[in-house]
Amino acid sequence: MSTEVLDTAHPLLDETDSAAVMEALSTRDLSGTAPVVATYERALGRTFGVGHAVACSSGTAAIHLALLAHGIGPGDEVIVPATAPVMTAMPVLAVGARPVFADVADSASFALSLPDVQSRLSPRTRAIISVAMWGYPADGDALAALCARHGLILVEDAAQAHGSRTGDRLVGTRGRVGALSTHERKLINTGEGGFLLTDDTDMARRLVALRNAGKIARGEEFGRCFGLNFKLPALSAALGVSQLARFGQRLATRRVIQARLAAALAGVAGVTPFPVRDGTANGYAVLFLADDPAMASLLGEGLGEAGFVSDPHRYAYRPLYRYDAFADIPADDCPNATALCSLLVSLPCHEGVAPTDEQRMISTIRRVLES
Ligand SMILES: Cc1ncc(COP(=O)(O)O)c(C=O)c1O
Repeated sequence: MSTEVLDTAHPLLDETDSAAVMEALSTRDLSGTAPVVATYERALGRTFGVGHAVACSSGTAAIHLALLAHGIGPGDEVIVPATAPVMTAMPVLAVGARPVFADVADSASFALSLPDVQSRLSPRTRAIISVAMWGYPADGDALAALCARHGLILVEDAAQAHGSRTGDRLVGTRGRVGALSTHERKLINTGEGGFLLTDDTDMARRLVALRNAGKIARGEEFGRCFGLNFKLPALSAALGVSQLARFGQRLATRRVIQARLAAALAGVAGVTPFPVRDGTANGYAVLFLADDPAMASLLGEGLGEAGFVSDPHRYAYRPLYRYDAFADIPADDCPNATALCSLLVSLPCHEGVAPTDEQRMISTIRRVLES
């Protein structure tokens, strides 16, 4: 039995990571333009099956860059699911646009409600951000079709969804640009960091210039266009290369644990495993829904006391418009998002979860439900 507290995240670092970082350090080329960054980007492109990966300083920066690259700014509106974390919506404020919070399809789905989205469209709407929370794939072809019909940009925030897929498509590769995070809580860990995925060569060039003070290519001068400094440092990129080498194995291990936990949860009266839609796969956490908010809260607490961190409990999960930072944004209530946030409980499913931990999680849930 583990004695440590088991969190959703499980940063896995070993001697191959130390060796990779030490090797990068020995080159004394530590900036975000060091060759190891390009090596990391090529490895990301191969892993995610896209033409271009652009590394940057965080997942938040990745979303910011995606919005800038599409020229989104003051006067524009961007639709964001009310169930997203604050980091998804902050970049919208950063570019001077206005986030518009939309409801999810039902209280057991992170997919945007298409009728609700439709009702919030205005002549100022420029983009929709789709978010696969805890790696659960959310929006499918229908949202992409809605974006195409209305000439809107689809940005996939796949920060928590490394390797999640819908059919044969990886989350983060459906829109023109996908944004991912490599913060240490994520499955690919560079401490802080993020990257963008795109098959569009012009878009990739624009993103590269935007992250490096408007320098369009090596040998060119800065300021050819607008740009900030959102580069990923070389040491983080070196860590990323070595993390990527075991990414597939980690994902496979997690999915096995996840499937066992989901099956065990299905046998517990009083909770409902979070639906996994047909043909989708993830591997970040296991989610389930309590029958009512009071029970969800008791389950979060009970699991915490037993040494298992439930993210919704830890973060006081709530719709975005309930955060002070968005108090100025006029928002109607999103009933499905409110219900979903209040009912959700998460369990870890990483390599540090032993079979005895799985049994203890389930017995803790049963005990709390019966008390
Ligand atoms: C869904 C989602 N979007 C964006 C971010 C921002 O990523 P970062 O912390 O790397 O800035 C996070 C980070 O937790 C996230 O979970």
